[in-house]
Amino acid sequence: EKAGYEHFMLKEIHEQPTSIQDTYAGKIFELEGKVILDELKMDEDQLRSLQRVTIIACGTSWNAGCVGKYLFERLAGIHTDIETASEFRYGEPVLCGQVFTLAITQSGETADTLAAIRSSRSYGCKAAAITNVVGSTITRETDSVLFTRAGPEIGVAATKTFTAQLIVLYLMAIHMGTVRGRLSPETAREILVGIKQLPGQVQKILNNKDAIKACAEHYANVQDYFFIGRHLNYPVSLEGALKLKEISYIHAEGYAAGELKHGPLALLSSETPVVAIATKGHTYDKVLSNIKEVKARSAEVIAVANQSDTEIDKYVDTVLRIPDCHELLAPVLSSVVLQLLAYYTAYARGCSIDKPRNLAKSVTVE
Ligand code: M6R
Repeated sequence: EKAGYEHFMLKEIHEQPTSIQDTYAGKIFELEGKVILDELKMDEDQLRSLQRVTIIACGTSWNAGCVGKYLFERLAGIHTDIETASEFRYGEPVLCGQVFTLAITQSGETADTLAAIRSSRSYGCKAAAITNVVGSTITRETDSVLFTRAGPEIGVAATKTFTAQLIVLYLMAIHMGTVRGRLSPETAREILVGIKQLPGQVQKILNNKDAIKACAEHYANVQDYFFIGRHLNYPVSLEGALKLKEISYIHAEGYAAGELKHGPLALLSSETPVVAIATKGHTYDKVLSNIKEVKARSAEVIAVANQSDTEIDKYVDTVLRIPDCHELLAPVLSSVVLQLLAYYTAYARGCSIDKPRNLAKSVTVE
């Protein structure tokens, strides 16, 4: 049932060209620059008057939600908060009927996410869920359900469900942005065409995974790793660090690159590789400066960068490439690189990849 792969995680990483395509199938009408999202039970007037979105999730789904926050704000002009479910449920949120809450949960069974959504609904909020499991509890607790169509995920480390969550978030952001008049059909078209190129681009990364494997093996015995990125690449760095610590047991931290000098720089040395997510976009130059700061502390830098970026080679020790793409879509491709980095690191260390110690696939207790 692993279809010839040694682990479910590797199989699931390789299924992403299909899971991404299945998730957007039938929803993208790129010629009109339009997304059809019938599952989102909100009419155009409701979408236009929306003031605030609160996204609630845990773990990897939280990282997807953090990408979602940036997308909703940039493409749809809606103030969006991202909340950790276990904090939200015991917090004192200021909510009212105008707030739209969005749960992201692959399993649809995470106890904290369910409790947080129930609590938000007690304030009269409309709620939606992004989940991968038909018939899961969250589907009965929300007004709208948007399914990721990733198929069953067995590995404890979330991979294909994460990239599928990102696809749903792009579709929601584009849909809300066009309805609200914030996003022109031309820009929507450009991103939608880009989404349709993702399956082929992910396949390219998978076909060239040897460089990622070699890099993983080279650093497999370090004790600490840092991951840095800005804007959309900040949650990508969090996700890269989470994946690595979860399955390889190496201590890893994801950081907003601009935060380095507020503490973590003190920890850097030649013993701490830093993965810099440095894809092209409006923060690229700023990340380059952060890379220089890191190099000045003798840390080795592994950059995740676009295929056509030849400048980056001058500043870093290793470059892991992703195909050129729309700047907003790079998180999908960079995440696949980081999944493979985590996988091959754990493999080199002889870890139990599909069932890491102390972890369960779905966390149904607090
Ligand atoms: O099923 P959920 O998406 O609600 O699960 C949330 C987290 O438990 C989950 O993403 C966890 O962090 C993964 N094992 C990460 O790979």
